[in-house]
Amino acid sequence: MSYDLVVIGTGPGGYVCAIRASQLGLKVAVVEKRATHGGTCLNVGCIPSKALLHASHLFEEASHTFPSMGISVSAPKLEHKALLAFKDKAVEGNTKGVEFLLKKNKVDVHFGTGRIVAAGKVEVTAGDGTKKEIETKNIVIATGSDVAQLPGVTIDEEKVVSSTGALVLPKVPGKMVVVGAGVIGLELGSVWRRLGAAVTVVEFLDRILPGMDGEVAKGFQRILEKQGVAFKLGTKVTGVDTKGAGVTVTVEPAAGGTAETIAADVVLVAIGRVAYTQGLGLAEIGVETDKRGRVVIDPHFKTNVPGIYAIGDVVAGPMLAHKAEEEGVAVAELLAGKAGHVNYGIIPGVVYTFPEVASVGKTEDELKAEGVAYTVGKFPFLANGRAKANAETDGFVKILADAATDKVLGAHIIGVEAGEMIHECAVLMEFGGSSEDLARTCHAHPTRSEAVKEAAMAVEKRAIHM
Ligand code: FAD
Ligand code: NAI
Repeated sequence: MSYDLVVIGTGPGGYVCAIRASQLGLKVAVVEKRATHGGTCLNVGCIPSKALLHASHLFEEASHTFPSMGISVSAPKLEHKALLAFKDKAVEGNTKGVEFLLKKNKVDVHFGTGRIVAAGKVEVTAGDGTKKEIETKNIVIATGSDVAQLPGVTIDEEKVVSSTGALVLPKVPGKMVVVGAGVIGLELGSVWRRLGAAVTVVEFLDRILPGMDGEVAKGFQRILEKQGVAFKLGTKVTGVDTKGAGVTVTVEPAAGGTAETIAADVVLVAIGRVAYTQGLGLAEIGVETDKRGRVVIDPHFKTNVPGIYAIGDVVAGPMLAHKAEEEGVAVAELLAGKAGHVNYGIIPGVVYTFPEVASVGKTEDELKAEGVAYTVGKFPFLANGRAKANAETDGFVKILADAATDKVLGAHIIGVEAGEMIHECAVLMEFGGSSEDLARTCHAHPTRSEAVKEAAMAVEKRAIHM
């Protein structure tokens, strides 16, 4: 078997890369060690978490919001197994979809664990131990990431779970402690709170969502607190004791001080993810990795070994499915002799809570640190007609523009459907647009997106509804 390209891993980076390369006429194969395609994202990440977020949100709406709209229903009952089955169906639909797309695009699939024997040679070990070797002109490593471990704490996926275990809890825990106020902690913490758990989030830093705009993170924390999530910021976990019926979590101030304990039924460890390269044979063939175990690449996704490339969570950059996909397309285009490129300055980030948090471009903190002169326009959903009609007024839109040129440098939104709204800002930024361009674009009424236009108008202090 001989190919132009073998992609190792069929997560969002790998399968998209394989399809694009095949579209461009390359003979392509993929190697995947899971029984299904789609990687972390489709199997145990984006898709199952969003299915649970959707279902748990509707559960909460039916329990608490319907009565305020004059809709009277008997108190909704949670059928736990059916909820998990709904999530599994979403996963199956998506992973089967990738299987279909690979077939449609004539990509050969080799199930098994891939190991790079040498540039141009990949050994595939199937589940039953049988081995085969495939030859290829180029290899793309797209092996993704794995859960980061908390030193001294064993994840048993029952009482102490990672995101994977938190997607399949057999019942709603009475009390849940979440370690890490990042994206996973806040999304999955929200799921179980909505379904009835008392959730306490323990975060090492003195803020939630590091990397997001500071003002947005503060505002969002207040919203989550209003919903009933408790936060212990500036706090570190020093021990987790699983003896007995529940779990006892020992915490102390990050800077040191008096320890205290928190009783829980389940602890979710969500302190980040690490590049996954186990068993790939990188050290043996001399592929360079950095201090955090990520494969080192140049701007064209090339590792230091000719013919071997890497993309997605296994390399530096935001660990996001769409970032992996963009890199997959770009490297396929480069291999086909085209000009593949990723604009790392404009990669949106979304937290799929209720309301959502979405961000693209620079945060205010980054602009300050870089000494860039900027202007700010803000508009609250409290003053947006559609948000008021729906009684969903939490949050605001914040637009950051260059003080001299008015070019939009960043956009940050807390609000219902913020994850959809952010894209008009992303497109505008791709075209180098200004806040005035956004402000003068007619937006349909009544839509939440009018808040984006008004925030852009507020850059020049001419918002109408505020
Ligand atoms: P992966 O998706 O991790 O895929 C790598 C694949 O390689 C896997 O299928 C693995 O089995 C395979 N593999 C590894 N080693 C080998 C080998 N030696 N041989 C053969 N196969 C191998 N991102 C978002 O953008 N939006 C979200 O809403 C979102 N939600 C998330 C929720 C959770 C709970 C988690 C954990 C992550 C979430 N992410 C989200 C992050 C997203 O899942 C990752 O950024 C994305 O999956 C990275 O894609 P990838 O292709 O680089 O790697
Ligand atoms: P994260 O990096 O988003 O957050 C981890 C949090 O844990 C940080 O706030 C960090 O300060 C804190 N932390 C680290 N060590 C700690 C300790 N010892 N004690 C207490 N707190 C500690 O990582 P997370 O949430 O695990 O997610 C992993 C990756 O998955 C992220 O990079 C994210 O991009 C991706 N993801 C994306 C989603 C999305 O796009 N909606 C959803 C879920 C995951």
